[in-house]
Amino acid sequence: MGAQTPCLGEIRKPMTNPSEQKILILDFGGQYSQLIARRVRECHVYSEVMPFSAPIEKIKAFHPAGIIFSGGPGSVYANKAPFPDEDIYELGVPILGICYGCQLLAKQFHGTIVPAGSSYAREYGKTETRMDSRCPLFFNLPETSITWMSHGDFISEMPEGFVTAAYSNACPTACIYEEERSLYGVQFHPEVTHTVYGTEMIRNFLFSICRCAGNWDMGNYRKKKIAQLREQIGDGKVLLALSGGVDSAVAAALLSEAVGSRLTCVFVDHGLMRYQEGDQVEQAFSGRELRFIRINAQKRFLARLSGVADPEQKRKIIGEEFIRTFEEAAKGIGKVDFLAQGTIYPDVIESGLGEAAVIKSHHNVGGLPACVDFREIVEPLRMLFKDEVRQLGKELGLPESIVSRQPFPGPGLAIRVLGEVTEEKLNIVREADRIFRDEIEKAGLQNTMSQYFAVLSNIHSVGVMGDGRTYDSAVILRSIVTDDFMTAEWTRIPFEVLDRTSVRIVNEVQGVNRVLYDITSKPPATVEYE
Ligand code: XMP
Repeated sequence: MGAQTPCLGEIRKPMTNPSEQKILILDFGGQYSQLIARRVRECHVYSEVMPFSAPIEKIKAFHPAGIIFSGGPGSVYANKAPFPDEDIYELGVPILGICYGCQLLAKQFHGTIVPAGSSYAREYGKTETRMDSRCPLFFNLPETSITWMSHGDFISEMPEGFVTAAYSNACPTACIYEEERSLYGVQFHPEVTHTVYGTEMIRNFLFSICRCAGNWDMGNYRKKKIAQLREQIGDGKVLLALSGGVDSAVAAALLSEAVGSRLTCVFVDHGLMRYQEGDQVEQAFSGRELRFIRINAQKRFLARLSGVADPEQKRKIIGEEFIRTFEEAAKGIGKVDFLAQGTIYPDVIESGLGEAAVIKSHHNVGGLPACVDFREIVEPLRMLFKDEVRQLGKELGLPESIVSRQPFPGPGLAIRVLGEVTEEKLNIVREADRIFRDEIEKAGLQNTMSQYFAVLSNIHSVGVMGDGRTYDSAVILRSIVTDDFMTAEWTRIPFEVLDRTSVRIVNEVQGVNRVLYDITSKPPATVEYE
């Protein structure tokens, strides 16, 4: 303890061009690097993630207003422990190291890091932590609060010039810093919501230490991106495959604003969409300047799916058929210069942060249409997170039914009809799904769950309706809550809502005499059934 009260104006001069202020996150293999980037952007400061091995020239060229070192799985003393280029400390840019990032900062400035042992224990989970609010990271924060810890090593000897500004029972060095050079390290994870004042700490780093302006928003992005797209595309022609999902719809709206009728959108309606969804997509684009081609290919998809019950085969057929239908439509359009894709930032990060364009294939199978002749790929959402894509969609005037859409699998209702797909079964699942969504919305629960839908099972069971015996299908309702769709918890929907939904489905949907609610989380189950 014992930092002096800093005079911020003297620490760092404001950046000359606030609209260009960016934070760089160096990824050391931690599970939260993407989350750090999102937290920074939630504070209206643009951020990007680069691998820890990014060359110093690339880091310089990015002109960061501040750098954050992420956490990582290993120890700084491990064989092949990841370290950044030491020239990074010569850039004169504030640095915040988180967990592993904090330890490597200590290591590179000759502190000592040791495994937790007899004197200090490992820490995992919510931890009461005391903080010195004279440290700029903790300005205006209470002296004691909860942080999220997850570490086996700790800093036992401070690097020269650094002081400590936070500690817990098991960690005497929960924050270290060197004010002169604006180097900060925290042993805990401010990006995780369990750290009660985590966002405030990130804000202090961004605004008090890096002196960012906080003016990154979708209004600015829209203006800048449109200018960039106009420059990139010139008088070229652009082709986009519209799936009806949020990403491709927002990409289409942005491109149509940038290049107008030189954008052609091909919307393949495979007949596997939810209630009225195909029409909603068409309507959303009806008032815009672009060429919109809707191909009603329901019959063709159904014919190919006839007699096929295996889930993987169904997915493959749909992917192939989509590409074929798209190619046929594209032939009629003639030569295009650009193929547009709705790739978003998590796709880029998850693909290993590569420089190469990430080519997101529709339905995640099949790949790009082979016979579409184009020069380049444009990916106008490549640097945006999903919530930013939705905000941009609103900014561009897309209807709520499109921008707030739940994730919907490319193969559509075909993987929510278990076993063979027929028109009759699609109608059943579509109707049941419509009723379920209607009841969830009437109960005002739609924003409390990440995904909710109906599945038509292949169970037939005996029932009684009126005076007669029935032998009909069972519909399964599924609803989950998740942050990342890698794990998911089933939703505790109130019984009254389930009851109303069940009564309506059995009464209104012919061929259904039983409604089941799925109470399995992921893992062990997946979100979808096939
Ligand atoms: P699972 O079933 O793998 O689903 O737990 C996780 C999330 O991915 C969606 N999903 C898909 N999305 N094409 C897509 O674009 C697909 O083939 C596909 N399969 C599953 C699913 O709806 C959930 O949101």
